[in-house]
Amino acid sequence: MPGLATRDTEARELMDDPACDLRLLRSTYAQFRLVNRAVSGWRRVYVRRLRPLLSADRPTSLLDIGFGGGDVPRALAGWARRDGLLLDVTAIDPDERACAFAAATPSPDVLFLQATSSDLVAAGERFDLVVSNHLLHHLDGPGLAGLLADSAALARRLVVHNDIERSPLAYAAWSAATFPLRGRSFVHVDGRLSIRRSYRRSELAAHVPDGWSVERQRPYRLLLVQERA
Ligand SMILES: C[S@@+](CC[C@H](N)C(=O)[O-])C[C@H]1O[C@@H](n2cnc3c(N)ncnc32)[C@H](O)[C@@H]1O
Repeated sequence: MPGLATRDTEARELMDDPACDLRLLRSTYAQFRLVNRAVSGWRRVYVRRLRPLLSADRPTSLLDIGFGGGDVPRALAGWARRDGLLLDVTAIDPDERACAFAAATPSPDVLFLQATSSDLVAAGERFDLVVSNHLLHHLDGPGLAGLLADSAALARRLVVHNDIERSPLAYAAWSAATFPLRGRSFVHVDGRLSIRRSYRRSELAAHVPDGWSVERQRPYRLLLVQERA
């Protein structure tokens, strides 16, 4: 296993195994809600980047790519509703297990679909805002290039891909904080693998075409942003 100085592109997360333990996968999806609340910083992204683009009179559409447990799109829809702003949220994931998990807790605020971003591009769909969380590090080079091309084609106004920034301190903190969850979900093991697979700011900047900017957000987050309008 390489150290954290370089990305470990060979690491494979347990949740990506189609034959993984379904009970542990469901616990993982459920625990993503706590994880994302603690570390992903979506409230800050919502307040600073998304909410200023929303309106109380005219609906804004938002697409979340790779929803996993579905908590991020649910949170975004809930915050907008509580702020009296009109936000139509669609969330996609190609994994039927994620779709079954989301379907078990229906939401009036979010349309969950089993689809890839390429499916939506082929169908001619457009959204005002496009976001993702913890997706970039999952993808290989062509997968990342495809996601960026798709999200640019799908978005009318803004794209924000939010992911981890790799660092030894983040790895140590994650390892300690999630140790009690070991054996009860994939969160401990896959989180460590995710940090190993994730980018540093300069690495991500070197991988993306013109028109994208890479911003840091604490703690240990990278926001890959494209402003369309
Ligand atoms: C680590 S999970 C993150 C889930 C959720 N966004 C979160 O942050 O809690 C990554 C999710 O991305 C999905 N995924 C993987 N490759 C994808 C792709 N090419 N397009 C869309 N979703 C993808 C997986 O099925 C998985 O549910």
